[in-house]
Amino acid sequence: MKKAMPLPLVIIATLLGLASTLVQSAPLTQAIQHQERAALFPSADMINQGRDVAETICSSCHGMDGISDAEGKPHLAGQRAVYLYRAQKAYHEDSRVEEINQHTGFLNDNALLSVAAYYSSLTPAFKIEDPSVAENVDPPEEDPFLSLRASMRKCIRCHDETGNAEGSGMPNLTAQNPEYFVTSMLAYVDGSRSHKMMKKLVGRLDEASIRDMGVFYAVQEPLRSKTQGEGDFNVGRRLAENCASCHGEDGNAKKAKMPTLAGQDAKYFIKAMKHYKDGTRQHKKMFDAVERLSEQEMIDLATYYATQEPHQRDVRTPLKSTEWIARCERCHGIDGNSNDPRFPMLAGQNLGYLTKSLTAYAEGGRDNTTMHAMATPLSSADIDRIGAYFASQQPKAVVYIQLPCADDESQ
Ligand code: HEC
Ligand code: HEC
Ligand code: HEC
Ligand code: HEC
Repeated sequence: MKKAMPLPLVIIATLLGLASTLVQSAPLTQAIQHQERAALFPSADMINQGRDVAETICSSCHGMDGISDAEGKPHLAGQRAVYLYRAQKAYHEDSRVEEINQHTGFLNDNALLSVAAYYSSLTPAFKIEDPSVAENVDPPEEDPFLSLRASMRKCIRCHDETGNAEGSGMPNLTAQNPEYFVTSMLAYVDGSRSHKMMKKLVGRLDEASIRDMGVFYAVQEPLRSKTQGEGDFNVGRRLAENCASCHGEDGNAKKAKMPTLAGQDAKYFIKAMKHYKDGTRQHKKMFDAVERLSEQEMIDLATYYATQEPHQRDVRTPLKSTEWIARCERCHGIDGNSNDPRFPMLAGQNLGYLTKSLTAYAEGGRDNTTMHAMATPLSSADIDRIGAYFASQQPKAVVYIQLPCADDESQ
């Protein structure tokens, strides 16, 4: 066995110890099956058999060295054995959509296990194809809104750094649900609202960035606007009873599509009300709500709402790359060097392949509950950054050694 695996000895696990840790995490992924242990602790014969399989079938794509020569194709060298076996099964069972079956689908379990043992026994690749990926880079300490900053430079001019604008007549953007934010932005391009500058700016953005901007403003601490209005607070409060069913008792909207009015700038508020009434801003429900209101009543309402306390929305700040990476490392090991033979090593993996597979978990091209949950919240910028981090780490082989253990029998 030593001869077959001339690799750095990273982990020595007794079968006993391994079995007990695996049982604890069994709900995550299936515990290692008896036949899978053969690939974990292979004999020299098994590895030779795996080499034959690799030579006849896999090498045309994966090479005999298991080192990828194409963007989007995985390195197999040094990959964890149980994972290699299960990944092949996943293609056979169609839980991965990629068409590899026609080449490997006829292989029996024995062949799959031995070829897994063969590729996992090779020295892992450290071949960085992408010049933008440096070796062993530190985790990117990036602010989760980094990719938005450039397109938000313009917004700051009018809406200030946090969306709590000082200028009178500017809407407060904090305390809004991201869903309303998106609707309100798109209204400038579909024509149901009119504002030249807003239309021009929104027209240049894609929907994902608009959504992310909504999250950005929603996680800022909301402040009451400086323009409080000069109407009659008490009249406003009484009139507001007609608005509470949609906008909330205190102007903090509960429903995602409803705007929060608490703390809203009075001048902007009055303009919005007038625009609903004269049809500049088209909205049936709001037209019904304002149709019979006089200008003075609008001013009173604005005054009442401007003094209400806006509440921060229940929206979570997206994680920074470093925080994501720490989560990935719980399963995939420090720097992506997994110690659990069921979890793939990510260190040194082909960058294009990492980003492709993460996208596939998120979008359903790969069927895996755990990874679907992990990959879905990642933005494409997150995927690029996290992928680049793992791709740039030095991959390390792991050798599992079965040690004789006194009470092995009793297990
Ligand atoms: C026709 C080319 C081709 C052949 C032949 C082929 N593969 Fe692959 N293999 C690929 C491609 C492409 C992928 C990436 C698919 C994806 O994106 O899911 C892949 C993915 C894999 C994976 C998943 C790796 C990971 O990190 O998730 C394993 C394991 C694998 N192949 C093993 C094998 C073995 C073992 C053989 C021989 C029995 C083999 N492949 C034959 C092209 C091939
Ligand atoms: C030139 C100043 C200016 C700039 C730059 C600007 N806005 Fe505005 N924005 C306004 C004004 C004025 C309104 C109110 C227009 C109206 O009456 O419909 C507004 C309205 C909005 C609204 C609707 C608020 C609501 O409560 O319905 C959102 C959302 C918004 N802006 C977001 C942004 C974002 C995001 C950016 C940057 C991409 C941006 N704005 C850039 C001036 C600006
Ligand atoms: C049937 C539900 C409903 C009722 C009742 C209602 N609203 Fe609205 N209101 C909405 C919706 C939905 C919007 C967002 C419309 C849009 O996208 O332009 C809105 C938008 C607004 C806005 C613009 C907010 C912004 O940030 O641009 C103001 C101001 C407003 N309502 C005030 C009121 C007042 C005051 C009343 C009571 C007199 C009232 N609304 C009653 C549903 C309602
Ligand atoms: C709870 C454990 C767990 C966590 C946390 C986790 N993963 Fe995974 N990951 C897995 C398992 C299990 C697989 C194999 C899934 C399969 O069979 O397709 C996997 C597969 C992958 C793959 C495919 C690798 C390949 O060779 O095809 C990538 C890429 C990946 N994970 C990245 C990540 C990233 C990035 C994170 C953090 C954002 C993360 N994972 C967090 C368990 C986890």
